Amino acid sequence: PATVRVALLGCGTVGTQVVRLLRRHSAEIAARVGAPVELVGIAVRSLDADRGPDVPADLLTTDAEALVRRADVVVELIGGTTTARDLVLEAIAGGAGVVTANKALLATHGPQLYAAADAAGVDLLYEAAVAGAVPVVRGVRESLAGDRVMRVLGIVNGTTNFILDEMTTGGHDFDVVLARAQELGYAEADPTADVEGHDAAAKAAILASLAFHTRVSLGDVDCEGITGVTAADIEAAREAGGVIKLLAIAERVEAGSRESVAVRVNPVILPDGHPLAGVRGAYNAVVVEAEAAGRLMFYGAGAGGAPTASAVLGDLVAAARHRGQGGRAPAESAYAELPIAGPEHV
Ligand code: HSE
Repeated sequence: PATVRVALLGCGTVGTQVVRLLRRHSAEIAARVGAPVELVGIAVRSLDADRGPDVPADLLTTDAEALVRRADVVVELIGGTTTARDLVLEAIAGGAGVVTANKALLATHGPQLYAAADAAGVDLLYEAAVAGAVPVVRGVRESLAGDRVMRVLGIVNGTTNFILDEMTTGGHDFDVVLARAQELGYAEADPTADVEGHDAAAKAAILASLAFHTRVSLGDVDCEGITGVTAADIEAAREAGGVIKLLAIAERVEAGSRESVAVRVNPVILPDGHPLAGVRGAYNAVVVEAEAAGRLMFYGAGAGGAPTASAVLGDLVAAARHRGQGGRAPAESAYAELPIAGPEHV
């Protein structure tokens, strides 16, 4: 069988781990794909940065466009919404499958990208964009494809969960804990996106779009982060038998006689017995309620290089397998026209 050529765009915390795991597990990956998988290049902004022993210098290039043209599957890990969008569209137009971890890209340009992938008949896979290693995207997109999702409730930002957890159990100061989350590789390059709730809002938009087969973008998500949460709030929650968590909530609501979708991110006091109350550290958890399936919970490492790389590789194996054997993930551009509820319904 023909070798599947993979291009990696970006080589930061996650990309480095993708390269390491791809090389280390190459025999197993080839067996699962049914063909050899070859990393043909890694597009980076600067050739000089030290990326450690796992990243072969001879694969590095600054010409991302040329690299995309040589690939069967493109893995986009550069972040941002402009260059990333252009490269993903070029990859799709060239017939390549795409794997991305880019939440902001999907929450901003998702409909255009899903439509392009569906029209070209190629994969656009993004497990790593929501809740790191936790397979909630595939769960909602594929396992629940024949069901009707009613509500999604999740802790989808590891940095803020880590911060709230450390403030709750260790009595630590916000700034100290945030610096630790950055050191551990959980935080976004600009941690404002974490603490203001924007990262969680992007993930909420992605999950809501998938769960309700409708178009939800970042601007539709009512969003409040954790910068206003004080030690006194945390103590008050504890005295009331609860714990403060930053939740992403997406649900079907009745707006008059019409059904619509409401999506929000905000700090919530959860009673200690709630399944999401015990989620510690940078872990993520998503509860999905579906009509026939009932209540499901997806739980695991939501941030960090290796866990996120695991999700990228799972998608890479699927996209590479589809290249050789045909098939693709369920179509995403066939939207239902479910309106988005305004704040009065939130
Ligand atoms: N900054 C994100 C988080 C990384 O803390 O969850 C994973 O998307």
